[in-house]
Amino acid sequence: MNNNSNLIELAEQFVKHELEYDPSGHDWWHCNRVRNVALEIAKYEKADLLVCELAALLHDVADEKLNESKQAGLDKVRNWLLQYVEDNECIDRVMTIISSMSYNGGKNKPLETIEGQIVQDADRLDALGAIGIARTFVYSGWKGQQIHNPERDFSSTDYRSNEKTAIHHFYEKLLKLKGLMNTNYAKEIAQKRHDFMEAYLKQFYSEWNFSDIRKDI
Ligand code: ADP
Ligand code: NI
Repeated sequence: MNNNSNLIELAEQFVKHELEYDPSGHDWWHCNRVRNVALEIAKYEKADLLVCELAALLHDVADEKLNESKQAGLDKVRNWLLQYVEDNECIDRVMTIISSMSYNGGKNKPLETIEGQIVQDADRLDALGAIGIARTFVYSGWKGQQIHNPERDFSSTDYRSNEKTAIHHFYEKLLKLKGLMNTNYAKEIAQKRHDFMEAYLKQFYSEWNFSDIRKDI
């Protein structure tokens, strides 16, 4: 086993310790999927595999929503890296990605390095398609949000407000992501997952507004 695979195993253990059964859509399996997709894109783009893999695995350990503050989350990851990674430049590159990759209502600046763009794409792809829909409903349940409420308009409600609905999240974020992918690889997958979400919404509304229930079957 070389040093990097040892390090990755330690990172996996750390992520499981922090997030294994997280109930808000950021559990170990989310981190694992993001890592696998990030590595796939990184090979294609000839990017730094170690930086991509560490940033993908660790990205949600630092999530502001799951920590006392943004800084507390980032410190937790930096302290772990300082314990196990000798190369300070690698630590800085991973930390720069993790601290700037989140969606944040679409307000963050585009990432500058190819590694950052790849990890951000991998994380965003996991918010799309069948898995993205599942995560949206899990997150909504965790926050105590309704599934849908056609009587309310949330267009001017704050991005982090708990008053919104799962269906509203498709419009405030999910349907915008395909236009925000960085790499061509991710753009292609995003389009397919986007189409699936559009089909899902069509079916959702037809069930919600049925006039002849046999049309839904
Ligand atoms: P990420 O892991 O991509 O950083 P977030 O922390 O933003 O994701 O959210 C976790 C999951 O919950 C994602 O699939 C995201 O689309 C979804 N989500 C985020 N905010 C909301 C919300 N207000 N309502 C419903 N789902 C949400
Ligand atoms: Ni994530």
